[in-house]
Amino acid sequence: MKFFVDTADPDEIREAATWGVLAGVTTNPSLYARIGGKLADFPSHIQQICSIVDGPVSVEAVGNTRDELVAEGLRLAALAENVVIKLPIGTEGLAACRILTDQGIAVNMTLVFSVPQAVLAARAGASYISPFVGRFDDIGEDGISQLADIIDALSNYDWRGFGINDQEPQVIAASIRSVHHVTQAALLGADIATIPFAVLKKCLDHPLTEQGLAAFAKDWEKVIA
Ligand code: E4P
Repeated sequence: MKFFVDTADPDEIREAATWGVLAGVTTNPSLYARIGGKLADFPSHIQQICSIVDGPVSVEAVGNTRDELVAEGLRLAALAENVVIKLPIGTEGLAACRILTDQGIAVNMTLVFSVPQAVLAARAGASYISPFVGRFDDIGEDGISQLADIIDALSNYDWRGFGINDQEPQVIAASIRSVHHVTQAALLGADIATIPFAVLKKCLDHPLTEQGLAAFAKDWEKVIA
């Protein structure tokens, strides 16, 4: 499973990148608003993020119609080579996905909450499909079993020929809220998990690791010089 960080904060991305395992970034309008981002700074902010990470950076196109989404997608894709356009699933998003994909622009279909949505996104040529785990849990449903169903359904078919360069869509486990979600995403074989920085850090924590480290340090002091 590849690890993406789900943030618009360059400091978090920079730190995660130093760990040597960061494969990409996902952003969204809420994440940019959360760090106090200004509209006028958005293009340069995205370019800054794209220069930090050696991998795809998903940036959400905001618009109500296919044409608005395509126009915004083209504007955003021109910012950096590693920009991936995030489109919301729906009639307009699907249509925009086909148009952008046919132009060689990678799309991450976002806000996916069902198997039919995921399969339609794959038919439209999406390079990435993002089932939202935590938000499904939030409404009393089971986000992990939804993710499992989506992975299962997509694996029934050969998607080569729909996307860019005959590549199959990659499933991004999104809206990840806990280490448990990360564990389950890996057990299900999700291609990617996009994880908030705080949760990504928690993935490395374990009380027995801490205890073991303290014991080794203590015993090292007893080694005869
Ligand atoms: C994914 O691409 C989204 O940016 C993100 O995972 C949404 O997470 P949230 O439901 O915690 O806001």
